[in-house]
Amino acid sequence: MADTLTVTDNRTGKTYELPITDGTVRATDLRKIRTGADDFGLTTYDPAFLNTASCRSAITYIDGDQGILEYRGYPIEQLGEQSNFLEVAYLLWFGHLPSQAEYDAWARTITLHTMPHENIKKFMEGFRYDAHPMGVFLSTVGALSTFYPEAKQIGDAELRRIQAIRLIAKVPSIAAYAFRHLKGQPFVYPDNDLSYTGNFLSMLFKMTELKYQPHPVLERALDVLFILHADHEQNCSTSAMRGIGSSQVDPFSALAGAAAALYGPLHGGANEAVLKMLAEIGSVQHVPAFIKKVKAGDGKLMGFGHRVYKSYDPRAKMVKKTADMVFDVTGRNPLTDIALELERIALEDDYFISRKLYPNVDFYSGLIYQAMGFPMEMFTVLFAIPRTAGWISQWEEMLRDPEQKISRPRQVYTGAPRRDYVAIANR
Ligand code: SDX
Repeated sequence: MADTLTVTDNRTGKTYELPITDGTVRATDLRKIRTGADDFGLTTYDPAFLNTASCRSAITYIDGDQGILEYRGYPIEQLGEQSNFLEVAYLLWFGHLPSQAEYDAWARTITLHTMPHENIKKFMEGFRYDAHPMGVFLSTVGALSTFYPEAKQIGDAELRRIQAIRLIAKVPSIAAYAFRHLKGQPFVYPDNDLSYTGNFLSMLFKMTELKYQPHPVLERALDVLFILHADHEQNCSTSAMRGIGSSQVDPFSALAGAAAALYGPLHGGANEAVLKMLAEIGSVQHVPAFIKKVKAGDGKLMGFGHRVYKSYDPRAKMVKKTADMVFDVTGRNPLTDIALELERIALEDDYFISRKLYPNVDFYSGLIYQAMGFPMEMFTVLFAIPRTAGWISQWEEMLRDPEQKISRPRQVYTGAPRRDYVAIANR
C-alpha cells in the first residue's frame, strides 16, 4: 500500500492523490483541488489548531494517550530524578547532554549573566506597589530588547546564543525583582556562589543576613519543578513564541509575547487559578457540591484536563511526589486535602472519565509554591522562568528550519458582501 490519500472531489468528479508524510498531509497540497481556474483551491479549517501540525520539531515528544513526555528523547522521569535544570536547558538548546567541561562552562556563563542592567530597577519602580508580577515580568523581558539592540541580528547564530544565555540567566533576577517590588522590599543582587535555584531563592528571600543559605530540599524541589516546566512542544505560548519570532523580531520581544500567552488562566495561569479554586471550596466537605457545579457546566475544575494528555500528565505525578519533599520541610499545605479529595472523586466520576480529564502539571504545583512562601501572583512567573529555556530553544529551531517563513494563516470570511459607502447624511 502507498503512503498516499486518494480523494475524490464530488463537486467535479475529479480524483487526486495526496502524499502522506509522517502521518500528515501537506495543507498546501489541497490547493490543487479546485472547481475551476478562478478557484483558489481547498484550504484546511482548524480553529485553535486542534488537529494541525505547525512545524517539525526534534525538541519535545509527547504521547498524550500513554502519558509520555521526553526532552530530546530523554524521559521526563529520568531527567527529574537524575538531572538539574541548567543541564536540561543545555539539552533543550544544543540537543545533547553536555560533558562535564561543557556543563561547567555553560553553568559559569549563565551565572555571569544573571545581573540585569541597573536601569531595570528604575523601570521596575515605575510599577504600582501591587502590580501583578506576571505583568511586570513580561513587560521587563520586552524592555530588555532595548538594552541589547544587537539582538535584532537574528541571522547571527552566535548572537542568538548570547541572547539565549542572557534570557535564561536573567529571568530569575527579573522574577525576583518583581516579587521584591510586590513585597516592598529592597532588590537583592545575584549571588554567584549559589546554584541557579539557590541564587533565585536568595534574590527572593534574603533579608538582613550577610549571605543567604538556601534550604537544600527547597533548592532541589524548585530545580525539579523547573525541569518539569521547561518545555512542552507546541503549546499556546510556544506557538506564540514561534509565531512572533517568525517575523524576525528580536527574541526578547518574542518572549514577552510568549509570556503574555502563558499568563492566561487556561494555560500557565492555571496554577494560580487552582489555588483560588481550592480556597473558594474551603473544605473537603464542600467538594461534592463544587464537583456538581462543574458537571452542570458552571466553571471548570482548574488544573484538570489537557489538549494532548488524555491520561494522567506525567509531570503531575512528579509534582505530587515533590510536594511530599517540600511539605516535610514547610509543613503540609492545608488545601492539599481538598485537592486530594477533588482528584479522588473526579477520577471516579464518568463526567471527567468520559472527557479524559486528569490532573495536569498545574494541579499540585501551586500547593508547593504556596507552602514555599510564594504568593499566588508569583505562580505563573515560576512557570515562565523554566519555560524560557523551552521557548528560546523552539525559537532557535524555528529560525534554523528552511521550511519556516513568516506565520500568516488564512481565514473563512463570514462578513458582509461588497457594498458601497454611504455618506453619513444619508444613513
Ligand atoms: C497547561 O498545551 C500545553 O502543553 C500546556 C501545558 C504546558 O506545559 O505548556 O501543559 C500547561 O497549560 C496545562 C493546562 C492548564 N489549564 C487548566 O488546568 C485549565 C483547565 N483546563 C481546561 O481549560 C482545558 O482542559 C484545557 C484548556 C487545558 C484543554 O482544553 P481543550 O483541549 O480545548 O478541551 P476542551 O475545552 O474542548 O474540553 C473538552 C471537554 C469540554 O466539555 P464538553 O463541551 O465536551 O461537554 O472537557 C471539558 C470541556 O468543557 N473540560 C473541562 C475541563 N477541561 C475541559 N470540564 C471541567 N473542568 C476542566 N478542567
